[in-house]
Formats: sequence, structure tokens, C-alpha cells
Amino acid sequence: MIKAGIVGGTGYTGVELLRILSAHPGVSVDVITSRSEEGIPVADMFPSLRGHLDLAYTVPDVEKLAQCDVVFFATPHGVAMNMSPELIERGVKVIDLGADFRIKDVALWESWYNHEHTCPDLVAKAVYGLPEMNREAIRGAQLIGCAGCYPTAAQLGYLPLLEKQLVDHRRLIADCKSGVSGAGRGASIGTLLCETSESVKAYGVPGHRHLPEIRQGLTQLAGRPVGLTFVPHLMPMIRGIHTTLYSVLRDPVDPGLQQLFEERYANEPFVDVMPAGSCPETRSVKGPISAVSAYIVHRMMIRLWYWR
Ligand SMILES: NC(=O)c1ccc[n+]([C@@H]2O[C@H](COP(=O)([O-])OP(=O)(O)OC[C@H]3O[C@@H](n4cnc5c(N)ncnc54)[C@H](OP(=O)(O)O)[C@@H]3O)[C@@H](O)[C@H]2O)c1
Repeated sequence: MIKAGIVGGTGYTGVELLRILSAHPGVSVDVITSRSEEGIPVADMFPSLRGHLDLAYTVPDVEKLAQCDVVFFATPHGVAMNMSPELIERGVKVIDLGADFRIKDVALWESWYNHEHTCPDLVAKAVYGLPEMNREAIRGAQLIGCAGCYPTAAQLGYLPLLEKQLVDHRRLIADCKSGVSGAGRGASIGTLLCETSESVKAYGVPGHRHLPEIRQGLTQLAGRPVGLTFVPHLMPMIRGIHTTLYSVLRDPVDPGLQQLFEERYANEPFVDVMPAGSCPETRSVKGPISAVSAYIVHRMMIRLWYWR
């Protein structure tokens, strides 16, 4: 049995992770943290977990977390980097759902996140947590920086095209739409029902923090620097991301895109390529939580458009 700990177990990603892990036959969640809900049983906060988990929130404590085999950080950026060095030193695997270990260029990370990185040496060792790109490296990694939400959608959509060099890598456009849960569970005026319902807006237009991460991944796939326009939008919905990707085909004559996508993702359990002619909706991946649907709900809806 793998002993797991979750730092940040009251947030949207933390509780989603908890739902997945609590149904996993090979994992026991032994520690779950929240500073604000210390002592409260998890099932009191999330009644859907009643009967599945007999655990109460505790404050983050490295000593306690170090008793686990793996510790997940479902926390804002800047938290995982402070506790990870000691956990790693003590042989614990660390999986960060936040942004601390995603971007390899530490100076670039610091400029986008406006935060000094406290363990740049670990960034070099971290594996980027996108299984469709890095499955083997993830298997053996001690530190994983999971891909961000928009970066997952944009990279998975472009991946088959860039790998095969079918599109002009200098002209990529990612038009992404996300629900309000992407901002986390903390209360803020901008995410209130009255502020977001019946409205759509672009945000982070001059530059969103996911831009350098997407650019890093696409550059790796293309094997050279890409030209990317990325504009995120806030939609009046709770879950899901819908991404429309644009690019210019190098050879527009019968590129066989449907077959390309079906073959590339044939053995990928987290990606479902829909039949030709159909269009995905975010609500299609909403529903009972299984490992697969939970992953997809948070991660991707891809619709591919192209022009000549
Ligand atoms: N929401 C999404 O759709 C989404 C998708 C992909 C990735 N992510 C990333 O996942 C991470 C978590 O996002 P979220 O939306 O789940 O956040 P959230 O809903 O705001 O929850 C944050 C969690 O972290 C804990 N926390 C906050 N500050 C902390 C600190 N200094 N030390 C220890 N624990 C702390 C909070 O509990 P206490 O304050 O009670 O300790 C809470 O449980 C972020 O880095 C985010 O960018 C989010």
C-alpha cells in the first residue's frame, strides 16, 4: 500500500485528488492538511467522502509528511518549494500540482510569478508531469511538477501536429476558455456568481502565467522556438476547459488529421479522440468521478480548427 499525503486538502484540486486516491486500491491517504480547517474531519467538509475516508485535517508538518511514500502539493505556488527539499532528502516522492517546478528557466519563472525560487537546483531534477509527453520519466521521478490546466489542453492538442511537423510552428494560436473553479476556492469578488454569470471575458491578455509554460512545452515538441498567441477567457461555468487551437498546415492536401490524432492517442487512457465531425462540450466530461473523468474534466477539451 502506498502511503500518501496531501498538502492543501480543502482546495479544488486537493479534494479532487482525494476523491481519486480514496478510490484507489493501492493507496492509503494518511495525511491531509489545511491550516484553516485543522481538526475538522474531511467527511464533514465533503460529505460525498463519508464512509470512504476516516481522516481529519492537520496543519502541514514536514515530520509527519515525511512518513508518507508520496506527498502531493495542491497549494498555491511558492508552498511546495519550501517543503520539498526536506521531503526529497528523506526519500519521499513529491508531486506538485502547482507551478513551482514546471518551468525549467528559473529566472523566467521568477519574472512571471514575481517570487524568488528557493530551490532552483530541484527544478532541474523535476520531471514535467504530462504523461502523454513524459510517461517513462514520470515513472522513475522523485519530483514531478504537474502541467498547468491551460498548458495541458494546448499541448495535448498541438502535440501530434508538432511532433510530425505538420503545422507552421511560428503561427500557433490557443484560444482557451475556463470555468471559475480555475481561480481556486478562496472567496474573491471576481469569482462571485453575480460577477461571472451571463458574461464572458478575456483576461491576462498582455500575458498570462501559463504562457511561458505552454511555450516551453511546444518548443520542446517542435524542436525549435514557437510563435504562440495565447488568450484565456473566463466562462460562467464551474468546471472544464475548452480550447480551440489554430495553426497553418504545411501541406493542406488531405493531412489525415483524424487518423493522426486517433493513432497518437490510441493507448492514452486520459485522452479521448472523438469521431470525425463531432464537437466536444465541457459538460460531456462532467459527471461521476473516476480517475479518467476527473483528469479530463480538469484538463482538456480540445477542438481543432485549421485554415489554409
Ligand atoms: N483550480 C484548478 O482548476 C487548478 C487546475 C490545475 C492546477 N491548479 C493549481 O493547483 C494548485 C491549487 O489550486 P486550487 O485551485 O486547488 O487552490 P485553492 O482551491 O485555493 O486551495 C488551496 C489549498 O492550499 C492550502 N494552502 C494555501 N496556502 C497554503 C500555504 N501557505 N501552506 C499550506 N497550505 C496552503 C489551502 O488550505 P489552508 O489555507 O486551509 O491551509 C487549500 O487547501 C494551484 O497551484 C493551482 O494553480 C489548479
